[in-house]
Amino acid sequence: SSLDDLYRRVIMDHYQQPRNMGNLEDADATIQLKNPTCGDQITLQMKVEDGKIKDAKFKGEGCSISMSSASMMTEAIKGKTVDEALDLADRFSKMMLGDDVNKEDFEDIEALQGLCKFPARIKCATLAWKAMEKGIKEKHCEHCGEDH
Ligand code: FES
Ligand code: FES
Repeated sequence: SSLDDLYRRVIMDHYQQPRNMGNLEDADATIQLKNPTCGDQITLQMKVEDGKIKDAKFKGEGCSISMSSASMMTEAIKGKTVDEALDLADRFSKMMLGDDVNKEDFEDIEALQGLCKFPARIKCATLAWKAMEKGIKEKHCEHCGEDH
């Protein structure tokens, strides 16, 4: 359909011109995560200050879905609080499982739901988001007494 074409274009745009790809100096969290089903791997780095994600960069090898999803994810979390980023990750995984969720901040991200209907593709799409959640929970949350 033409909607699928639009989704494909959005994904290819992020794949061919990934946002926030590279190294982050002075990262507070560096997370490496592998998709066990294919062996593809992503490294995500985040700079967190005053509970806010100041910057995020990623690199890795992966399919167009995993790389474009990482590009979209890093765009979406920059400037967000860690709580907001965790909420985004939560809504994202629910959306990918087919739930009806609040799609605020999901402009490009929605394309992934449109094209990733199969479990293997869902794993590709969620890789970067899992890395982000892991990074926030492991590294940042060590220093905060809050219960999220
Ligand atoms: Fe490996 Fe998509 S096929 S992350
Ligand atoms: Fe991470 Fe509170 S900001 S646990």
